[in-house]
Amino acid sequence: MITNKGFEKIDTPRKAVRVAIPASTANLGPGFDTLGMALGLYSWIEMKEAAQTSITLLGDQLYGIPTDKTNLIYKMAQAVFRKANVSIPELEITMYSDIPLTRGLGSSASALIGALAAANALTGHVLPDEELLHMATAFEKHPDNVGASLYGGIVVATWDGQHANCVRITPPTELQALVIIPDFQLSTTKAREVLPTQLSMADAIYNISRSSLLVAALYSGKLHLIREAMQDRLHQPYRATLVPGMEQILEQATNHGALGIALSGAGPTMIAFVDRHSAQKEQLAHYLMDTMKAQGITASTLWLEPVTEGVIYYYDTETYSFMDIVKGEVRL
Ligand code: HSE
Repeated sequence: MITNKGFEKIDTPRKAVRVAIPASTANLGPGFDTLGMALGLYSWIEMKEAAQTSITLLGDQLYGIPTDKTNLIYKMAQAVFRKANVSIPELEITMYSDIPLTRGLGSSASALIGALAAANALTGHVLPDEELLHMATAFEKHPDNVGASLYGGIVVATWDGQHANCVRITPPTELQALVIIPDFQLSTTKAREVLPTQLSMADAIYNISRSSLLVAALYSGKLHLIREAMQDRLHQPYRATLVPGMEQILEQATNHGALGIALSGAGPTMIAFVDRHSAQKEQLAHYLMDTMKAQGITASTLWLEPVTEGVIYYYDTETYSFMDIVKGEVRL
């Protein structure tokens, strides 16, 4: 597990910084645009003051992203500098990500938070984290993924178009996540287009009660309630048409060892929560793979840890290379 280890947020301006930012799952079933959880899969950004701007994107996940000053990381960094009243016009940016793009694991939220956090670290953390949350949410339009990537843990967040509130709770220690990541991309825009514009009062009550129960269950460690608490009538029934096998998995996964199951964010990844001591972990992984396969979908499974920390800051960019840190060759 990677951690801040007590050197979080040095509050003097720096010339260079590296940040690691966790992936996230949003909604957790019923908490549409509200609940999120940080997961132990990371993207990494190095940001340095430079004489001339250069942007280097490493790894397979970032293919096709612009590397000039239209790059989102560069633009968000400049937005931080403007707000902090600091001028750093030229930046050397390097990014690597293990988070698959457009699959519902918060890759864009992670990049966004990484850009804001790294730039803010260069200023000596002039802006409080709440300001970074506002900036990220104003861009994303919902605070669930960005809140989790920024603060870590489980977040409960609201956004009224101007102001975000976000409360973080620590995930229960027994909780582990298994994701099944289909081999196709699904854009959030497309997954939002299938949603209805109105809901019945009965469905609204259904979701409020499950979402509230889920927060209480996670906060109190009452994991046996998760199955019921992760039920949703707001978005998953409509999105099921976009992910072959999803309807069956939502119905059946708890019979194969999952405590609860949901579409991860806007999908197409699905996330099952499991008691880490369960004897059915392998059975569950097989069930998920077999169900997708029966629908003609290739996919992969990945065990992920809910992580308690959000952005991790590394201020020493000289001693070890960027990729040595990313690949865990060096443990700080
Ligand atoms: N809450 C969002 C959705 C997450 O489900 O559309 C995706 O970014």
